[in-house]
Amino acid sequence: MEDFTDIDILQCPSTGKNLSLGSGSLDTDEQSFKFQDGYYSFINQEEELAKQDRYIQRVYDAFSKIYDAAMPMLFPFLGLKEQDVRKEIIQYLELNKVSSILEVSIGTGANIPLLLQCKSNLKICGIDLSSGMLKACVSNLRKWGLTRISLYQTSASKLPFKDNQFDAILHVGGINSFANKEAALLEMLRVVKPGGKIVINDEGLSPKRNQEWYSRIFIKSMFSLFASLERGEMDPPEYILPAKGIENYRLDYVGNGYFWVMSFNKAIQRVAI
Ligand SMILES: C[S@@+](CC[C@H](N)C(=O)[O-])C[C@H]1O[C@@H](n2cnc3c(N)ncnc32)[C@H](O)[C@@H]1O
Repeated sequence: MEDFTDIDILQCPSTGKNLSLGSGSLDTDEQSFKFQDGYYSFINQEEELAKQDRYIQRVYDAFSKIYDAAMPMLFPFLGLKEQDVRKEIIQYLELNKVSSILEVSIGTGANIPLLLQCKSNLKICGIDLSSGMLKACVSNLRKWGLTRISLYQTSASKLPFKDNQFDAILHVGGINSFANKEAALLEMLRVVKPGGKIVINDEGLSPKRNQEWYSRIFIKSMFSLFASLERGEMDPPEYILPAKGIENYRLDYVGNGYFWVMSFNKAIQRVAI
């Protein structure tokens, strides 16, 4: 995949320093981040990642081989079609107001065709922790003829972007197992523009579903299996939301009540006169 990186929006995720475009790398005066397999990697050293994130990275590197085949088979257990649930989540982005979007934990890119179906001229960047998932994403984007999308390997809690760059941020299906959910949210809030939309989703039973014995026994067990494989949780992490700086917050359940969606806008700062 060609490199469509917009250097002006990037910064070093560890130091916040400006990056310059080298030949096949993004450089600061101290560090160099290589472009290979279709994305830039900001993950150089073992010790850069929390233990839980390193574990999850390995889980998804392995899972990446079967992810696209497994997902459409899992949703029917919930009486759902994968694409229908994705479309429900994407609606929260209000794409009519959006020109640029960052997908945090883009995975194999399954949301990209749906985003572009809604808005064909959308400028899209994606980050993910797993090289396996990113390689699968690059291969999917090539297959779909959608190559003008910039991809970066990094943790959600260290985004390689300057402040206030994106009209919207989408996150689907990873935060339940993040080592540091608060840090990831603060990073999303930092890089989205004032007034921009953040949509965060993962699996978890709605209060109504939680009252049904079969949902608690069968579906919760299925989710718990994933959650325990990922050492994650299942309830919407509303406790990570800041007391100030966000507007229009809502918590909804989609996909027949089997998935939660937290959506909100970054507050527009009002200058005191
Ligand atoms: C269930 S998959 C969802 C992928 C994609 N968003 C989708 O809708 O199909 C979860 C993704 O979160 C990524 N992930 C997990 N922990 C992460 C972290 N700390 N930072 C960034 N990505 C992470 C995984 O590598 C994986 O690609």
